[in-house]
Formats: sequence, structure tokens, C-alpha cells
Amino acid sequence: MRKYIQFSVTLIVLLGLTACSSKRERQPQYMPDMYVAVPYEADGAVKVSSNISSNRKPVEGTIARGKVPYEYTDTNEGYEKAKEQLISPLAKNEENLDNGKMMYGIYCATCHGTKGDGNGVLSQREKFLGIPNYKDRDITEGSIYHVIMYGKNLMGSHASQLTHKERWQVVQYVEKLRNDLMK
Ligand code: HEC
Repeated sequence: MRKYIQFSVTLIVLLGLTACSSKRERQPQYMPDMYVAVPYEADGAVKVSSNISSNRKPVEGTIARGKVPYEYTDTNEGYEKAKEQLISPLAKNEENLDNGKMMYGIYCATCHGTKGDGNGVLSQREKFLGIPNYKDRDITEGSIYHVIMYGKNLMGSHASQLTHKERWQVVQYVEKLRNDLMK
């Protein structure tokens, strides 16, 4: 017990000394980012100190690299327009279908089921209700894409999980599933 007390006292004294040593020098900081935030510039440069907001809007008419603009709005009209007009830019081939199948398996099958009949795990466990069988919906490639972009009622948007190309590959696969279900 005595040894323990001695040890503790020595430790406290030592810690005290390190904490108070030379006030002029910078003291070591544990995880400095927690005290001093690093401000970033919109163009990627780090600013040493600034209160200028870096949340600048992109210049009008410009498109971020790798992004494809989507002009249909998240409204009923946008949905109807996309359903009628929007056409896949991808070729219908095995490669696109295979990747669509893979992405579908990751992002959609939990609800919609591997066959697209609405019988996914989350549906079986009644975590999500009202998941349709694709064959009961009057959908087109445009409307499927639109729903991936914005979601629909209980279904959330999947725009951030899939790239423009991947979305269209998934669309191709959903169409295939729907055709198989119609047989
Ligand atoms: C969390 C569960 C869930 C996930 C994950 C999910 N969906 Fe859905 N989806 C739903 C529900 C619920 C509906 C019914 C929405 C409604 O019409 O009210 C739906 C409807 C749809 C429809 C029919 C929309 C229409 O126009 O009638 C399509 C097509 C569709 N989903 C495709 C997909 C695709 C593709 C994915 C994967 C990228 C996906 N869903 C992921 C739950 C989900």
C-alpha cells in the first residue's frame, strides 16, 4: 500500500512538472484537430486562419468532374416526364447486365428480393411494407432510373451509392427481372 502511495505521489509530481514546464514553448497537444479545426478552401488549399466560408456554389453552367446532370425534378411531373422520355444511354449487353445484377444484389435485393417479386429479407421480416412485385408496376427504364435517383415514398434515394453508369446497369437488370416475372 505504501509503495502504491509513493508511486502515485511521484507520478502526480512528475505529471505536474511536465505540464508546467517552460510556458514559452508550445506544449504537446493530444489530437490537435480536436482543438484547432483545419479550414479548407473550396479549391482544396488549406487556409491557416480564416473566417471565409468555403461553401461556394459551383459556377453556373459548370459540371463537376464525373457527374452527369439530371434535369428531371423530384415531383410527380418529373416522374411522369422521366417515365416517358428518359432512355438508357447504355448498350444492352452481358457486361452491363452482370454488373447491374451485382449492384442490384447489394442495394436492392434486401427489399425487392433477388427475383424482384418484393420478397426480400426486409420484406419477409416486415421491416418495410408495401414493397411491390415489379410485374405489378407499370414502369419504364426512365421511371426506374428516376426512382433510383430520388426514391419513392418508403424507398430512399440510391443516387449516392451508385454512379450514373451503375444506375443504368441496375435499370437494365430490373427490366430483365420484370420481364422474367411477366412470363
Ligand atoms: C428499403 C427497402 C428498399 C430498397 C433497398 C429499395 N427499394 Fe425500391 N421500393 C421500395 C418500396 C417500399 C417501394 C414502393 C414505393 C411506393 O410506390 O410507394 C419501392 C418501389 C420501387 C420501384 C417501383 C417504383 C414505381 O415507379 O412504381 C422500383 C422500380 C424500385 N423500387 C427499384 C429499386 C431499385 C433499383 C433499388 C436498388 C437500387 C431499390 N428499389 C431499393 C423499397 C426499397
